[in-house]
Amino acid sequence: MDAPTLPPWEVYRALSPSEKAARLRGTDGRPYHVLFAQQFDRPFLDRLCELATRTRRIAKTKGGRLFLQSLLADRRAMLYFAQPSTRTFLSFYAACQILGLHPAEVRDTQTSSELKGESPEDSVRTFSSYFDLIIMRHPEGGFAERIAWLLSTTERAVPVINAGSGKDEHPTQALLDVYTLQRSFETRGGIEGKTVAFVGDLRRGRTVRSLAQVLSLYPGVRILFVAPPRLQIGQDILECLTAAGVPYELTEDFDAAVATADAVYMTRIQDEWDAPGERTAGEADRFAFGVRHLSILRPDAILMHPLPRRQEIAVEVDRDPRAMYWRQVRNGMWIRVALILTMFAREAEVHQYYDDLVR
Ligand code: NCD
Repeated sequence: MDAPTLPPWEVYRALSPSEKAARLRGTDGRPYHVLFAQQFDRPFLDRLCELATRTRRIAKTKGGRLFLQSLLADRRAMLYFAQPSTRTFLSFYAACQILGLHPAEVRDTQTSSELKGESPEDSVRTFSSYFDLIIMRHPEGGFAERIAWLLSTTERAVPVINAGSGKDEHPTQALLDVYTLQRSFETRGGIEGKTVAFVGDLRRGRTVRSLAQVLSLYPGVRILFVAPPRLQIGQDILECLTAAGVPYELTEDFDAAVATADAVYMTRIQDEWDAPGERTAGEADRFAFGVRHLSILRPDAILMHPLPRRQEIAVEVDRDPRAMYWRQVRNGMWIRVALILTMFAREAEVHQYYDDLVR
């Protein structure tokens, strides 16, 4: 697939998210780069979830696994993670292995030429000389987007996936969260009309920011943002929701939110972002989900967390069938398999294999 031609940086950065999304599509209409949550639309999400489910069904047999491994065996991916990661890194790594895509990694910039003073931009440009896909996590907001733009000005433009950027976006986490919600509510009319409560550090939690935007694609969704005022969700997200007609509420009443929500999405305090002298650790302790909340949580509701957790959810809660966070971990691998397949335009073969399998 050919890379899209992007306008000069100053022009590009001034575009609205929907204008950017249109520009980021490849020649065949699919997203060439995956950089922020507003790039996704409903047909794309529905197709991706279906593809993930079919792929994991195919992977149940050895023949199926070998078929999947043949799909991208001629490609290589670079995982450039300049920020700590367990699940996102490993699920992308495993997703590459499932598809036969050869993964390489730089996780510690102290071991790369960045230590010699090379700019991250030059590092990524180097990766694009060797690899067919760059999956990257970076502490700087908007960095993946700038890199995607930069590569588009070179003769080695390769797709870029944002695996978490600064405090702003984590679009592939939103994909796995949507996949988890969709599977959980499959027999209850889907995500439409559900109430989702986000709890914790909403100001700096990029998973919440990305997922809240994606939820606006599901009619009837209502959002509760449960946080101390200092850690409440950014105005920019609220403006997006208002523009999309999504009703929301900012509250500190955790118990009431747990009692009404269809999905409670817990997050940790992101204190690595504390300004000098700022101390947010412990700020949201009163919003921890303990055993006592299991009796308040609706019987048909689910409890989510992007992980890592600290004390926001008591470990005793893990055994409850409504606890979905370990399923999220597994779903993350499969939705990333589906995403990579889609970016490399290999879904048709998977659908064909699946149809032959179930016939
Ligand atoms: C999150 C992240 O990195 O933004 N983790 C993840 O990718 N699952 C959440 C967090 O760090 O709290």
